[in-house]
Amino acid sequence: MSANLTPPADLDVRALRDLCEQLAREAGALIVDGRPDDLGVASTKSSATDVVTVMDQRSQDLVRERLAAARPRDAFYGEEEGGASGESGLTWVVDPIDGTVNYLYGLPAYSVSVAAVIGDPATDGAWRPVAGAVVNPVSGECYVAALGEGATLQVGDGPRRTLRVAEPESLGQTLVATGFGYEAGRRRWQAAILAEVLGDVRDIRRLGSAALDLCRVADGTVDAFYERGLNAWDLAAGWLVVTEAGGVVDDGTGADPRTAMVLAAAPRTHAALGARLRSAIAVVGEGD
Ligand code: IPD
Ligand code: CA
Repeated sequence: MSANLTPPADLDVRALRDLCEQLAREAGALIVDGRPDDLGVASTKSSATDVVTVMDQRSQDLVRERLAAARPRDAFYGEEEGGASGESGLTWVVDPIDGTVNYLYGLPAYSVSVAAVIGDPATDGAWRPVAGAVVNPVSGECYVAALGEGATLQVGDGPRRTLRVAEPESLGQTLVATGFGYEAGRRRWQAAILAEVLGDVRDIRRLGSAALDLCRVADGTVDAFYERGLNAWDLAAGWLVVTEAGGVVDDGTGADPRTAMVLAAAPRTHAALGARLRSAIAVVGEGD
């Protein structure tokens, strides 16, 4: 870890984790309870299918307001409009609804992701998470992690279970989650890579929330996850949940996960799938 990404020794990562959890739970309740009957698309971003609902912005605004009161010296970086700079060196990275298309359609596979990070989350490779929480407000799953403190899953009011990644016997036995971006050219590349890899793994899952996909690697309900095109808000909390559960998260080449690629799995599976992805990229091309 480079020096400027080393958290200060007195950083209370447990307190940050607890705040991540509190905020993700509160925003999760808001998007379920406050969902309008006539929910529609409020606006679009990178393409016509990259949608924002009124609840994405409301969820982010809620978290942003809470943080402005509780942590006024920290910066804020969210998927929707309204960032803020800070002076503490800590930035809150928030995906107010990860899996917005599932949310729009009423598919119960979406989440709120809240993380505290050191460094600059707008720059690939220049930041690291120190605490995070991912909440699926429909299933009641709440994944949390703090640097050096492990990762847990609590479902509803149940006990907190310490998470450990699963290591399947071989690449052929590996259940792989992945996702697709919103731009047509990117998707064609992703489909071509998938066509290369599909015959060599157990099967593929496309669940629709990258933050939850990462947490599923951590709890062993999938064996691995890869995707090109993620942003810090998709990744920040889930990255830490996986590494604190004993997994490896990188860009497939040993460097920090970045927009070009995020690959997460238990160590041996990570190495095998990383090699398979690199050979797929050699056949398909680097893409954009
Ligand atoms: C998306 C989801 C999806 C992934 C996309 C993300 P959003 O986030 O995480 O699973 O495949 O790349 O953009 O738009 O629902 O917040
Ligand atoms: Ca997202």
